[in-house]
Amino acid sequence: MAAVLTRHHDVLAALHAPEQFSNKVSSHLNVPNGMDGAEHQAYRALIEPFFSNVVLTQFQPKLQVVIDELLANLDAHNDVEVMETLAHPFALRAQCAFMGWPVALEQRLTDWMAAQNAATLAKDRPTLRALADEFSDIVVEQFERARRGLTAPESVTAQLTQLRLNGDPVADDYLVSIVRNWTVGELGTIAAAVGSIVGFLAQNSVVQKQLRAAPMHIDHAIDEILRLGAPLLTNRRRTTCPVGFGDQSFEADTTVTIDWRAANTDPGVFAEPHQFKWDRDPHLNLLYGAGVHVCPGKPLAQLELRLFTQSLLNKFTKIELGTRAFERAEPPRGGYRQLWVKLSQLNHSSAKSTCTAALE
Ligand code: HEM
Repeated sequence: MAAVLTRHHDVLAALHAPEQFSNKVSSHLNVPNGMDGAEHQAYRALIEPFFSNVVLTQFQPKLQVVIDELLANLDAHNDVEVMETLAHPFALRAQCAFMGWPVALEQRLTDWMAAQNAATLAKDRPTLRALADEFSDIVVEQFERARRGLTAPESVTAQLTQLRLNGDPVADDYLVSIVRNWTVGELGTIAAAVGSIVGFLAQNSVVQKQLRAAPMHIDHAIDEILRLGAPLLTNRRRTTCPVGFGDQSFEADTTVTIDWRAANTDPGVFAEPHQFKWDRDPHLNLLYGAGVHVCPGKPLAQLELRLFTQSLLNKFTKIELGTRAFERAEPPRGGYRQLWVKLSQLNHSSAKSTCTAALE
């Protein structure tokens, strides 16, 4: 039987017992998610400053440019397919802007991601290995550019090349792994999150109106929307000793899957778990995990999703489902594979008459 933790209580217990549930589930280097104990803490301490308030405040205007360009190019007369037109390009461009990578890299990364998605779904291991090497080459090229002074010194990529651990520079394979953790995993998660948010808003005009009237509640609403429409489905642990949870017990050295979607819709913890509710306790939401491996990128993810949602709600007065039916993504992906929406803007003549009416 597959070892899967689905109950909120069991997932929390495992997350808070890292000495029994190790993150070393694969032989591949995975910084910091595939590390335990002191080694994990050391690399966490290195990466956390990249998501500080100071860094994110500097990044915000660049992120707004990315969003404005994407929304300006949308066709407001026809149905829009959200995943291809908005979600994936947004995730990629936001990440390139965050890293300080040249715009020219976008197409190469887009092609790489398409190949990676296809190989993941086909479980094509040789192609996945070749793609992993290609990703390393792309990232090492960016480190080399930074070292030759071709990147702004304050850029995230340049700062990464300056990292030191116990006085020594961090080796390139570790730096590549850090960037792989931020990019390969998280581009898909951010894109899936955008799909889940737009899909939810298109089917819930009341919440749309509430958020337009009270944008300060956008973060809170997004966390609840993504509790329902999980963008990240699973992570894994390996037991270091025999472990028992209620009716479940695992031998030592068992790979255990943490099912975020199931835990976050556990009816024992969330009343009417598949309903959106404003008054949920945010501390129960496991969207960004918990314990020592809790997502360090949460402030960046929240900034990206908040700014995107706010800009979309500001620009379009109505977001509705399009005429073509949506298709849900299949595991290991969360959210939607395809999502068609109709976006309406207030036309200028009616905007003018409303203003005139208000003045009179
Ligand atoms: C909606 C977006 C996101 C969601 C839902 C999410 C969710 C999560 C979750 C649940 C974990 C815990 C994994 C575990 O326990 O094994 C995690 C870890 C992590 N996340 Fe995120 N994440 C998001 C965005 C990001 C972004 C944008 C970044 C960075 C650019 C990021 C970087 C990381 C890293 C490095 C870890 C590993 C931390 C560790 O093992 O100590 N995440 N994320």
